[in-house]
Amino acid sequence: MAKKSKTRNRAVRIEVRESAVHGRGVYATQFIPEGTRIIEYTGQRVSWEAAPDDENDPHTFNFGLENGEVINPEIGGNDARWINHCCDPNCQAFEEDNRIFIYAMHDIEAGEELFYDYAMEIDEPITEGSKRKFACHCGASNCRGTMLAL
Ligand SMILES: C[S@@+](CC[C@H](N)C(=O)[O-])C[C@H]1O[C@@H](n2cnc3c(N)ncnc32)[C@H](O)[C@@H]1O
Ligand SMILES: [Zn+2]
Repeated sequence: MAKKSKTRNRAVRIEVRESAVHGRGVYATQFIPEGTRIIEYTGQRVSWEAAPDDENDPHTFNFGLENGEVINPEIGGNDARWINHCCDPNCQAFEEDNRIFIYAMHDIEAGEELFYDYAMEIDEPITEGSKRKFACHCGASNCRGTMLAL
C-alpha cells in the first residue's frame, strides 16, 4: 500500500459566499501571503460583439483582454467570476499570455473578502451619470464612488 504523503497541500483555499458589498463574493479560508497567484479568471474567449452582456450594463462578468477579446465565464468559468471590486483592493489582476491571473497584493488573512480594482472602461465619455450607473459600494475610505477607471 502506498504511504501517505506528508507534503502539505499548498493549493490556495478560497470559498464563494454572500458578500456585504454585492451579491456573492470570494473569501480566503486560510492565510494567503503577498504575491500568491490565487486563481485564474477562466472562461470562453469571445469578441466584444459576441460577449453576452451589454457593455454598458453595470452588472457584468466579462473580463476584457488587451487583444480586444473578452473572457466570458458563463462557459468554462470558475470561482474567480465572483470576486468583487474594491477601490482599495487586496488583489490585483494581471494578464499573462492572454490569460488573467489574480494575485494577492499583500498578505490576506483567513476570512477576508478578496477584491481587485475592476477599473472598468466604457465607450462613452465618463459623466456624473455614468459614474452613478457604475456606482461602487466597496466602503473603502478612498472609494472613488465608481467601478469605472477615472
Ligand atoms: C464579476 S461580478 C462579481 C460577482 C457579483 N457580486 C455577483 O454576485 O454577481 C461583477 C459585478 O458585481 C457587482 N459589483 C462588484 N463589486 C462591486 C462594488 N464594489 N460595488 C458595486 N457593485 C459591485 C457589479 O454589478 C459588477 O458588474
Ligand atoms: Zn469603491
